[in-house]
Amino acid sequence: MKAIIWTNYGPPGVLQLQEVEKPTPKDNELLIKTHAATAFAGDCEFRRLDLSIFLRIPLRLYSGIFKPTRIPILGQELAGEVVAAGKNVTQFKAGDQIFASAGFSFGAYAEFVCLPESNAIALRPESVSYEEAAAIPTGGCEALTYLRQGKIQKGETILVNGAGGSIGTFVVQLAKHFGAHVTAVDHGDKLDMLRSIGADDVIDYTQEDFADRAEKYDLIFDSVGKNSFSRCVSALKPTGRYLLASPNPTTRFLGGRVSRRTDKKVIILAVEPTQQDLTYLAQLVADGTLKVVIDKRYPLEKTADAHAYVETGQKKGHVVISIPHV
Ligand SMILES: NC(=O)c1ccc[n+]([C@@H]2O[C@H](COP(=O)([O-])OP(=O)(O)OC[C@H]3O[C@@H](n4cnc5c(N)ncnc54)[C@H](OP(=O)(O)O)[C@@H]3O)[C@@H](O)[C@H]2O)c1
Repeated sequence: MKAIIWTNYGPPGVLQLQEVEKPTPKDNELLIKTHAATAFAGDCEFRRLDLSIFLRIPLRLYSGIFKPTRIPILGQELAGEVVAAGKNVTQFKAGDQIFASAGFSFGAYAEFVCLPESNAIALRPESVSYEEAAAIPTGGCEALTYLRQGKIQKGETILVNGAGGSIGTFVVQLAKHFGAHVTAVDHGDKLDMLRSIGADDVIDYTQEDFADRAEKYDLIFDSVGKNSFSRCVSALKPTGRYLLASPNPTTRFLGGRVSRRTDKKVIILAVEPTQQDLTYLAQLVADGTLKVVIDKRYPLEKTADAHAYVETGQKKGHVVISIPHV
């Protein structure tokens, strides 16, 4: 089968198309014919592995000290068709059309992938395309879990920082679905798209710092983590919640202190997609409540170009890898 092999840590060119052996499912695994996968910011960060020393060392222990020999194929989310199921698999059978989070097992950048049934895997509604379904697991579950933990209520106000990305586009739409008033912050080029998916108010971060405004918010969702932590906390109402999806050691420490000493809460989560959440999100896409914003599609052999495009920062919503089978 064709697969994109992760040959080294570094720039997008380390992702190379190769012919490799098709995998065989273990007793607890599904063999999936992949129709679509995605390239998102987290994939690029992992590919480069130019993260803080606290993350780099454990991740190199996980994926390979000098080269990523333990994870030959990247790609964390996918949609496709089950072609075979191991003898202990109970929920799925050959022919099922599914979408899934491969998570830290990776492997989605290939014509076929094996996943344990215990991964977050759900049936794809007929009206949701493979490409849309593939883009749901990471950003959708991240957005849903943070908003639930933040106990978002009808009539509350939320500011979404980094609203135009993979997580942000889901946060904006889910927050509207839950009845909140949404202010979306991102680059000026993305503001029309953000209005089109329901943002009530938009701010171009290159022109204005949202924390300079007099408004205070019930919630701030932040997928960027580049703004001053104390100014973000100051932009909350007295019982506001700061949902921080890109924390660092300093903001983790300061967040704990704010939550202990004030009525404000700083919420930092390690989100694991679940089958239940995938099914819920796909149903919202199927009934038109949620739109999966797909900016560009690349064929499997151009996965390196997809990663390079994600790194330009111009991406609106999601970038999808399409894997047609002839
Ligand atoms: N994707 C996931 O589900 C997931 C899960 C866990 C953690 N994370 C982490 O969360 C972060 C965001 O993920 P993502 O996939 O949503 O990224 P993304 O798709 O790249 O979205 C980030 C958005 O933030 C915008 N942005 C950059 N600087 C900004 C600033 N100073 N103020 C406001 N907006 C700004 C970017 O636009 P411009 O670049 O055009 O400025 C982009 O639209 C990543 O670090 C990722 O590792 C992601």
